[in-house]
Amino acid sequence: MNYNKKTVKDVDVAGKKVLLRCDFNVPMAKDGSGVITDDKRIRAALPTLQYLLDQGAAVIACSHMGKPKGEVNPELSLKPVAVRLSELLGREVIMANDVVGEDAMAKAAALQPGQVLLLENTRFEKGETKNDPELAKALASMAELYVSDAFGAVHRAHASTAGVAEYLPAVSGFLIQKELEVIGGALANPKRPLVAILGGSKVSSKIGVINNLLEIADTVIIGGGMAYTFSAAQGGKIGDSLCEADWQDYANEMVAKAAQKGVKLLLPVDTVCGDKFAADAKTMTVNSGEIPDGWEGMDIGPKTVELYCSAVKDAGTVIWNGPMGVFEFPAFAKGTEAVAQALSNTDAITIIGGGDSAAAVQQLGYADKMTHISTGGGASLEFMEGKELPGVACLLDK
Ligand code: 3PG
Repeated sequence: MNYNKKTVKDVDVAGKKVLLRCDFNVPMAKDGSGVITDDKRIRAALPTLQYLLDQGAAVIACSHMGKPKGEVNPELSLKPVAVRLSELLGREVIMANDVVGEDAMAKAAALQPGQVLLLENTRFEKGETKNDPELAKALASMAELYVSDAFGAVHRAHASTAGVAEYLPAVSGFLIQKELEVIGGALANPKRPLVAILGGSKVSSKIGVINNLLEIADTVIIGGGMAYTFSAAQGGKIGDSLCEADWQDYANEMVAKAAQKGVKLLLPVDTVCGDKFAADAKTMTVNSGEIPDGWEGMDIGPKTVELYCSAVKDAGTVIWNGPMGVFEFPAFAKGTEAVAQALSNTDAITIIGGGDSAAAVQQLGYADKMTHISTGGGASLEFMEGKELPGVACLLDK
């Protein structure tokens, strides 16, 4: 996939109506109060939005939120986002009552340079997730230029993330540009050695990324719940630990692939177990492959921490995707925290995939020490798998 895409700086935006796809899929309080619990994704959209306004564009912003499945669901309205966006921008954000209905069309038609309109949740429209050309055309009819800055949604071929680019010139905003430069750069032409740290609970959700990074990286480190499937595949005793029996052959294939490619594949040598999956579980540290029944592996052990942290020390680039253990429970957060700390101390370019790893780095207080924390969960994973991202492929090449 070509990552060298035109950006807002490569086109004339002055006086134009611009349809800006943002990822405003922000977490909301569960009580239906409309309180946004983390506005990071709204803040992440500001540089592009502000640039467009400064250049004299009229901005029609749009986004999905949650999965309303083509039905209008007031709990997934973008109205709270309009309020927060307006506070952050220090100017009015006009809210449309629909996506491409009468209200949105009238407000878009009347929009003046320097003004911001926010359309309702694009997934209130049935055609959004089906990438319906009629919906894409209707969205495009409001504007003269399409700017995509929704990195979190670029792995979706939806009407507002990809389809609309069939009908309007399409360029990226600054957020997507940075994600492409940093992650794309690390995958295509990394400063070596490239160390990939892969964690998380399931091998099955990381198959593509393990496979692709074994093609590119010098060292691949495995941690988190999926390490127990590797251990079981090698004949280890894993007690009550997470194990995907169907993926044991695959785990062995990956070990063989690493050997064949000359990639150093590091697996845990010890593990911290708990007697139940709970914050107050009794803990015990054992060698990998020696977990007794009644115990489950919940973090990498101290010898593994040492091994993994020393692999990171002289790296040129580190890509990290997935925690090393159940970091939500302090007793099992040490492995993840030690890796985060090691990354904060290295001179390497450090790239953190979105989702759980980003949350872990933030929760543990190391966020500002990393080179780049991706704003996309599924999107950064698919990017690292080497898949084509429809929301990027549809943009104009430089
Ligand atoms: C995300 O939160 O990862 C993006 O907004 C994509 O959301 P989705 O998984 O509902 O498509």
